Amino acid sequence: MNFEHGGVGKSPRPFEVEAVRADFPPLHQEVHPGKPLIYLDSAATSLKPSPVVAALDAYTADYPANVHRGLHVLSERATEAFEDAREAVASFLGVEDSAQVIFTRGTTESINAVAMSWARSMLEPGDAILVSELEHHSNLVPWQVVAKEKGLDLRFAELTDDARLEMSAIEAALTDRVRLIAVTAMSNVTGTLPPLADIMDLARRKGIRVLIDAAQGLPHGDIDVRKLDPDFLAFSGHKILGPTGVGVLYAKRELLEAMPPFLTGGSMVVRVTRDSSEWNEIPWKFEAGTPPIGEAIALGAALRYLAAFPAEQVAAHERALLEHAHAVLGRIPGLRIVGPEDLSKKGPIASFTMEEAHPHDLAQLLDRHGIAIRAGHHCTMPLHTRLKIPASARASFSLYNTMAEIDRLGEALESIQALFRRRVSRPATSPARLASPAQ
Ligand SMILES: Cc1ncc(COP(=O)(O)O)c(C=O)c1O
Repeated sequence: MNFEHGGVGKSPRPFEVEAVRADFPPLHQEVHPGKPLIYLDSAATSLKPSPVVAALDAYTADYPANVHRGLHVLSERATEAFEDAREAVASFLGVEDSAQVIFTRGTTESINAVAMSWARSMLEPGDAILVSELEHHSNLVPWQVVAKEKGLDLRFAELTDDARLEMSAIEAALTDRVRLIAVTAMSNVTGTLPPLADIMDLARRKGIRVLIDAAQGLPHGDIDVRKLDPDFLAFSGHKILGPTGVGVLYAKRELLEAMPPFLTGGSMVVRVTRDSSEWNEIPWKFEAGTPPIGEAIALGAALRYLAAFPAEQVAAHERALLEHAHAVLGRIPGLRIVGPEDLSKKGPIASFTMEEAHPHDLAQLLDRHGIAIRAGHHCTMPLHTRLKIPASARASFSLYNTMAEIDRLGEALESIQALFRRRVSRPATSPARLASPAQ
C-alpha cells in the first residue's frame, strides 16, 4: 500500500516565499487587533505547514491504531506509515540504513539516550567528554550527570569574544582521554556554526566519537550525514516544521548494536522469561513502549515538505533574511547583536540586547506589535555568562519569513526604544523594568 503523507509530492518545487506562506495557517491571523502575526520564534519551535497538520489529522482520524502489534488493517496501515516516516528521516539525512534512525521524544531525549546508554556503559573513570561553551543545556546537563556518576572529565572548548568556535579552541581542550566531542551544529542563541567538517576530521584522526546536536542546524542546513559521518546526531521534529513530542537519534549501526537500551519494556524485546529478556534488533531495541506514532508520521511529512524545495534556494532566502536583520538592527543605536560578526559563520538567528530595555520587556512590547520573539537565557546559562549578559532577546528566522517582517521588527524596536528614552527623561514615572517574568 502506498499512503499519502499530506500530499507532499517528490518533484522539486521552486522556492517562492509567498507560496510557502500560504502553506502555514498561523501566519494568516491577527494576534492583536490590526496586528498580523510576525513569527520570529522558529528557533523555539517552528510553525507547521498544512501537509504536516493533515498527516497528523489523518492518522488520528482515520487509522489511529498502535504499531507493530496488531494484525488488523488499521494497525498494518499505522505500522507502514510509521516505518515509512523512518525512511523519510533516513533519506533526509542521506543515510541508507534506516535502522540507524531511532524515534525519540526530541533532541533532549536523544542526547540523554547517548549519555545514559553509550557513555554510561562504554566510558571509564578518567575518560573525558568535550563540549563547547555554546551548548544548550540539553547538550550539557546529561554529560554533567554521567560525568559525576562515572568520574569523567567534562571539558569545554572556549569561544572567541564574538562567540565563534575555532578549531584551535577544540585542540586546546583536547587530551588523550577525550572519548567524545558533543557539539551543536548551530547555536540557538548566537547562530554560531561550528566547523563541523574539521571537527569530524580531527576526531577521526584521534579515534574520538562525535555527537552533533542538530536541533537548530538541521532545519537550516543540509547536513549530509553520509558525508559528515558523525557517530551520533540528535534533532527535534518541532523545530523542523514537524510536531512536538517526536525527535530522532541517529547513530552508527555498530554503536547501536553494542549499546544497552536506555528504556526497557514492551516492543523492545523479542523474548521475555520471568528472569530475563532478549532485546529486539535496532531500531526497535531503543523504542520501548508505544512510540509517538502520529507525530512520527507527521515528521516524515515535514521532512518531505522541506526536501521538496531546492535546499540552496531555502538557504539563500534564510541567509538574505539574516543579512537584512543585521543591517536593520545594526542601525539602531544602543542595540548590540551577539555572536559572530562574520555572517558566513552564522545561521539565521539574531540575538541582541538593548541598553534601554531588558530583553523581557522587549519581547512583551514587541508582542503588542504582533511580533513574536523570545527573551531570556534560552537554556544556555553558561553561554550567557561567557557573553557577560544575563539574558538576550532572540529573533529567529525560517523559510516563511520576509524582509518586510524584519523591517517591521526594526520599526517596532525603534518605537520601543523611543518609549524607554522618554520614560528615562521623566524619572518620576520611569520604572526600571516593565515586567520581570521568572527565568
Ligand atoms: C541547540 C539545541 N539543542 C537542544 C535543544 C532541545 O530541544 P528539545 O527541547 O526539542 O528536546 C534545543 C531547543 O531549543 C536547542 O536549540
